[in-house]
Amino acid sequence: MRWFFYLVCVSVVNATFDSRRFLDYWTDLFRPLPRNPREGFIPDYTPENQEEFDFIVIGAGSAGAVIANRLTEVPQWNVLLIESGGNENFFSDIPIFASFLSLTPMNWGYISMPEPRACRDLRGKVCFLPRGRVLGGSSVLNFLIYQRGHPEDYNDWARMGNEGWSYDQILPYFKKSENIGIKELQNSSYHGVGGYLDIQYSPYHSPLEKPFRQAGEELGYKWRDPNGEKLIGFSKPQATMRKGRRCSSSKAFLEPIRFRPNLKVTKFSTASKILIDPHTKTAYGVEFTKRNKSIQVRARREVVSSAGSIGSAQLLMVSGVGPKDHLQEFGINTIADLPVGYNLQDHVTFSGNAFIVNQTGMTMNDLSAASPFVAAAYMSGQGPLTLPGGAAGLAFVHTKFSRDQDLTRPDVELVMGAGSLAGDAVGILRSLLGVTDEWYWKTYSSLSFGARQRTFSINPVLIRPNSVGRLMLRSPNFADHPKIHLNYFADLNDLRTMVAGVRMVEKVIGTKAFQRFGTKLHTTPFPGCESFVFDSDEYWECAIMQTSITLDHQVGTCKMAPEGDPTGVVSPRLQVHGIRGLRVADASIMPRIPAAHTHAAVLMIAEKAADLIKEDWKIPISKNY
Ligand SMILES: Cc1cc2nc3c(=O)[nH]c(=O)nc-3n(C[C@H](O)[C@H](O)[C@H](O)COP(=O)(O)OP(=O)(O)OC[C@H]3O[C@@H](n4cnc5c(N)ncnc54)[C@H](O)[C@@H]3O)c2cc1C
Ligand SMILES: *[C@@H]1O[C@H](CO)[C@@H](O)[C@H](O)[C@H]1NC(C)=O
Ligand SMILES: *[C@@H]1O[C@H](CO)[C@@H](O)[C@H](O)[C@H]1NC(C)=O
Ligand SMILES: *[C@@H]1O[C@H](CO)[C@@H](O)[C@H](O)[C@H]1NC(C)=O
Repeated sequence: MRWFFYLVCVSVVNATFDSRRFLDYWTDLFRPLPRNPREGFIPDYTPENQEEFDFIVIGAGSAGAVIANRLTEVPQWNVLLIESGGNENFFSDIPIFASFLSLTPMNWGYISMPEPRACRDLRGKVCFLPRGRVLGGSSVLNFLIYQRGHPEDYNDWARMGNEGWSYDQILPYFKKSENIGIKELQNSSYHGVGGYLDIQYSPYHSPLEKPFRQAGEELGYKWRDPNGEKLIGFSKPQATMRKGRRCSSSKAFLEPIRFRPNLKVTKFSTASKILIDPHTKTAYGVEFTKRNKSIQVRARREVVSSAGSIGSAQLLMVSGVGPKDHLQEFGINTIADLPVGYNLQDHVTFSGNAFIVNQTGMTMNDLSAASPFVAAAYMSGQGPLTLPGGAAGLAFVHTKFSRDQDLTRPDVELVMGAGSLAGDAVGILRSLLGVTDEWYWKTYSSLSFGARQRTFSINPVLIRPNSVGRLMLRSPNFADHPKIHLNYFADLNDLRTMVAGVRMVEKVIGTKAFQRFGTKLHTTPFPGCESFVFDSDEYWECAIMQTSITLDHQVGTCKMAPEGDPTGVVSPRLQVHGIRGLRVADASIMPRIPAAHTHAAVLMIAEKAADLIKEDWKIPISKNY
């Protein structure tokens, strides 16, 4: 039954998207009812060649959707939003199916270059880097977790010279977007009510939630709101969710305003170049491809690149903004010599460990996601399908390897999954993570099928990495995916911190709360690490380098830094240094990755970017949030 259901899902999603241009509208009809009255199909608009707009926004992802919304609040401005993908659909709405979506054309399908210290035993010996290619961008593929980070993460940005970005100055922008649906937080000074983006808990309580909370308490951690005053502690994930369904940035920010006359959205349109006058150094338009036709559009005021950490960096470089020596290799004329592509940062996690419980009914694999009962529960926005990417608990902890003296700043996050990789007999999760079938069967076949079903996971995430990577062009053509050097664990302290994370998980599992179910680690050694003593530090270092995967939080490739700082690509007002009429506003501008999942921070950046643009064009901004 379950296999059959998965098969149907995968084929429907694939079929839909192979002929996506024709079926864009058709798939929308399959989104479940009752639908929020603000939601609905976003019409497609094809601009004339050389048509003019006040603003052109590239990418309708997490950031682009917010910016298009806020700029079209100004009635005398018109905005063109260019997006490479099409609509979301029924399947992308289901929170627990997040990993499915990476197998569809909604994913750009980037892969990394071979890594010396990571992803060594994954398919093709590379890391998979899914990115959303759909209205809503990566907020449609992501695991819905809403997490802002530590105040000092943003105070660090300000200390680097980025005026206006201290925590006190950006907190209002987190709140502006937000419509918190969690009753006990509605009065919190850290949360907003009435914004476009719904933040809720999954209505489903995993049977593992209570032991997780008790385990935290046994270890001396508070159960708390990790987006509130303090971050260290255990919690249930807050999610970008509306009545048990995904609330992507497109659903939140674009659908309610889809009929604004001054907003035009062109779908299935891939920008190939930002047009910049090399003499005046002014951006004046964008060239994009739609249905094999090349179209140029012009911007009267500004071009805003919100194509994401990979897209924005690549687009700037093919348009002549980047490191001169690198652009020269491809015969690209350098208009501004800037360190685009450097400062690539990301969060890695180790997700190979499976914990076995001695009872049925505790874990996700065991609940059979596709039983008619579970499916029916979902139709009313309930049940296990509403778990955000399958996550049932989060914890933020401080290990002894942390370079922060400040004990309130975590360096490791633990994400508890209601199931584990071991239960992935069908292979969906494996395909997402790039885990080979051979690895899977070697590692988990010693578990009987039943035991494989009764497993869950707690995965440590390295949330304050020191290692930094770099994104480089493969060719001067935007259609060729860039070369992505992630450099995970280049700094060995990062590797030690991950091992400390594994140890922390062992502590959690060792609590009375989890021992009540006889919880134990599956102990078959990982392929390639058999020569190390099981459970030694060296063993875990090996395991982490063989099979660590990314949490898909790539940021930083168009770093924000003040004028005169040679590492900066954009100014604290998000203008590209040395170019007029061009801003970048998305995950790529982060100077340093926050200790959080990155979606919330991207929305905050976009909200602030819109206000910066309005300020610079002398539009009064409302401060009533
Ligand atoms: C699988 C996965 C799971 C994740 N889980 C979480 C999570 O649980 N919590 C969390 O906070 N974060 C999570 N993230 C990260 C988070 O979603 C991203 O950091 C965030 O969405 C990035 O926003 P962005 O606006 O920078 O880029 P994106 O949202 O990726 O938007 C970029 C948009 O630009 C479009 N585009 C790119 N190039 C072009 C072009 N040339 N022409 C036209 N359009 C273009 C893309 O199609 C896309 O729509 C996850 C990400 C992934 C991929
Ligand atoms: C929030 O505050 C208002 C007014 O102070 C009060 O009436 C309401 O009951 C409070 N709600 C919660 C959930 O605490
Ligand atoms: C678009 O162009 C590509 C290659 O140039 C070609 O293979 C494809 O068939 C074209 N598609 C359409 C719809 O014309
Ligand atoms: C599970 O393990 C615990 C602790 O060892 C034990 O008390 C309990 O009886 C076991 N339950 C089952 C169903 O075996």
